[in-house]
Amino acid sequence: MYTIRKKQPLNPTVTKMVIDAPFVAKRAKAGQFIILRVNENGERIPLTIEDSDPEKGTVSIVYQIVGGTTMKLNALNEGDSLHDFVGPLGKPSVIDGNKKVCVIGGGVGCAIAYPTAKAFAKAGADVTTIVGFRNKDLVILQDEFKSVSNHYYLTSDDGTAGEKGLVTNKLEDLIAAGEHFDEVVAIGPIIMMKFVCLATKKYDIPTVVSMNPIMIDGTGMCGCCRLMVDGKMKFACVDGPDFDGHLVDFDEAMSRNRAYMDFEKKARDEACN
Ligand code: FES
Repeated sequence: MYTIRKKQPLNPTVTKMVIDAPFVAKRAKAGQFIILRVNENGERIPLTIEDSDPEKGTVSIVYQIVGGTTMKLNALNEGDSLHDFVGPLGKPSVIDGNKKVCVIGGGVGCAIAYPTAKAFAKAGADVTTIVGFRNKDLVILQDEFKSVSNHYYLTSDDGTAGEKGLVTNKLEDLIAAGEHFDEVVAIGPIIMMKFVCLATKKYDIPTVVSMNPIMIDGTGMCGCCRLMVDGKMKFACVDGPDFDGHLVDFDEAMSRNRAYMDFEKKARDEACN
């Protein structure tokens, strides 16, 4: 059960795994996620479904090695198995094929942005993608994005891949050049999603963001993934992960994320020893 069929490093810290999970593969839709445990006593971590193949019964996930659990996950190899692989969880993204949509991905968030762009393309939408990375060594899924995009723009902070600058710079350039978008979907670091939303608010473009906070049960019971949206408490695992970006309190989400940093460092140190 949950055997790793394929393990493929995408860059020095990001890896893709294809897992045997026929039940999840049959039902998975863009925007949904799974929660896995590497072993019986392991931490539960949520990971967005990057792709699924109902015929082969496989689900692809992409993870960044950031803490103890992702280090343990990365120590597994093809043929090894995961202890749990629960899903699909969360609400699927709302995909409308009659749109001109701009899908923006930042860093490892591109693993979530890709299936969204693919679903829009499959539905017949005109898809522009803007992806951003710190440098050329961190670029992932370039061919995959190009294959589902009418227009593809790559940016990097240091200018070593694509245009130098941030995804928000490119978005504003396109809008200033007369490009019209019915919707923007932004997926990546919270700070990136915040600034994309500040930009799109100026132009009144509806904007969806995918929130990926710490999760435990994934069923709305533990309260761990709570967020403030339009002044109301929401749970990313059952009310999301997609939300209206103009209503999300990103500052509160960032401060909650920071509260877990020490725990992550401790888990990472323990996994190294
Ligand atoms: Fe527990 Fe969402 S993960 S309420």
